[in-house]
Amino acid sequence: MSCATLIDGKACAAAVIREVSVEVKALKDVGIDPGLAVVLVGSDPASQVYVRNKVLRAEETGIHSFEHKLAADTSQTALLTLIERLNADPQVHGILVQLPLPGHIDENCILQAVDPLKDVDGFHSENVGGLSQGRNVLTPCTPAGCMRLLKETCGDLSGQHAVVIGRSNIVGKPMAALLLQANCSVTVVHSRSHNIRELCRQADIVIAAVGRPQMVDASWLKPGAVVIDVGINRIEQDGKSRLVGDVDFDSVQATASAITPVPGGVGPMTIAYLMKNTVTAAQLQYPAVRHAKPSMEIPA
Ligand code: GUN
Repeated sequence: MSCATLIDGKACAAAVIREVSVEVKALKDVGIDPGLAVVLVGSDPASQVYVRNKVLRAEETGIHSFEHKLAADTSQTALLTLIERLNADPQVHGILVQLPLPGHIDENCILQAVDPLKDVDGFHSENVGGLSQGRNVLTPCTPAGCMRLLKETCGDLSGQHAVVIGRSNIVGKPMAALLLQANCSVTVVHSRSHNIRELCRQADIVIAAVGRPQMVDASWLKPGAVVIDVGINRIEQDGKSRLVGDVDFDSVQATASAITPVPGGVGPMTIAYLMKNTVTAAQLQYPAVRHAKPSMEIPA
């Protein structure tokens, strides 16, 4: 039985962090101390873990972090006031508002309030539009991380058929745009699609980003497909809690040619690309520094 190659997200993320650390140092050498503001509203346990990991990684990378933890009943006006303050703060180069926000806050209104040059999530419509036009803009971290894993695993992606399962603004849609930019043929399937399994079976590359534990098994795959599992789902098994992806890892091992594990696949890449975006944002805010170092390009 052939066994899929494991795509090591931890090792790849460590390489990205090393690259970012070099750029952080270059910025510090010209007097710019990159800073990332992370805003968490409420006490959702998963969001608390994500925010803690982002702040820790920033510190390790030499990026200054500003953590803003707000009560769940914070008003939309108060949150907007904070964002305006962060937009105007020269020490803050990147702003991340952890999602989801409590139900009484209009998420879109908040994301649109972030200065597009500080929008390290790439969620502002200016950046979303730029991505769909193929411009070099701040790009959502998870899809950017997935692209890096794919390029390291497959090399040139031109002509490959990629199927993206899921159409969220955070992963599915920007993922499709990036794959298209890399000259893939792209199919996006979602909860209303017909024949999802048959469409997936035509794919050279499958990106699973639906949030349904172990949904994709070997019967969904063409032999040799490369599988990127974006899902992080907590399940109870044998009285224990554990994390699984959207892909049934054991089932697809013999069919896929390569697969990301959960944990240790896409997760570390998301955080690494948040660091990369923070440095890119700092460079965008100091064009003279960016132009002095033409190698500092926004990653495609
Ligand atoms: N919640 C889940 N994923 C993300 C992400 O990539 N960015 C933010 N801001 N919130 C999230």
